[in-house]
Amino acid sequence: MGQGKFITLEGTEGVGKTTNLRLISEEVAGAGHPVLTTREPGGTPLAEEIRELLLAVREEPMTGTSELLLMFAARAQHLATVIKPALASGQWVVCDRFTDATYAYQGGGRGLDQDVIESLENIVQGGLQPDLTIYLDVSVEVAARRIAARNHDRFEREQVEFFERVRAAYLERAASQPRIRVVDASVDLAEVQTSLRVLLGEFLSDSS
Ligand code: TMP
Repeated sequence: MGQGKFITLEGTEGVGKTTNLRLISEEVAGAGHPVLTTREPGGTPLAEEIRELLLAVREEPMTGTSELLLMFAARAQHLATVIKPALASGQWVVCDRFTDATYAYQGGGRGLDQDVIESLENIVQGGLQPDLTIYLDVSVEVAARRIAARNHDRFEREQVEFFERVRAAYLERAASQPRIRVVDASVDLAEVQTSLRVLLGEFLSDSS
């Protein structure tokens, strides 16, 4: 069996990633491919522990650099023990967030240097990139309304300006990287899912 494909899903909080991730995995499985669904930060027991460190609200503020390094520490573990072996065995991997989130949140949101992120990306990933990335886009106002009732983690507590920078960074990246496809997630769920099915249908037929 050949190498599987690597699909990632991105978006700010409140875009409906969880429901749409399920749809992506179902479409891939429906086309007859074995599929592994996972997430970042996380996806292995150790990386999930790092996730807890990253999301916990605590008295001691976490520096941007600590945050960046922990994201890549979790990613290194996830890649080596889950993603790469799965792809090598022919499984398709559908991942809730990946390095585009680092460029958007740590680069755009926190203002960390893109070149530093790129160096870490090279160390941790070598040349590995997703084959397809779907970015679910909604305005920050709509997203904030959707998550208003949640118990907010350390990222969700950030201000509107932070999420504006995150969204701008995602859109800028999408404009320069053809593998990133933007889907308008401000419309109702049925419409979002129709767009996703069309997009995945094209990708699946190109990959067969
Ligand atoms: P989630 O809520 O989508 O599971 O993601 C957890 C948080 O981690 C989310 O607020 C985005 C953030 N994050 C980053 O800041 N950088 C990253 O590289 C990744 C993967 C996630």
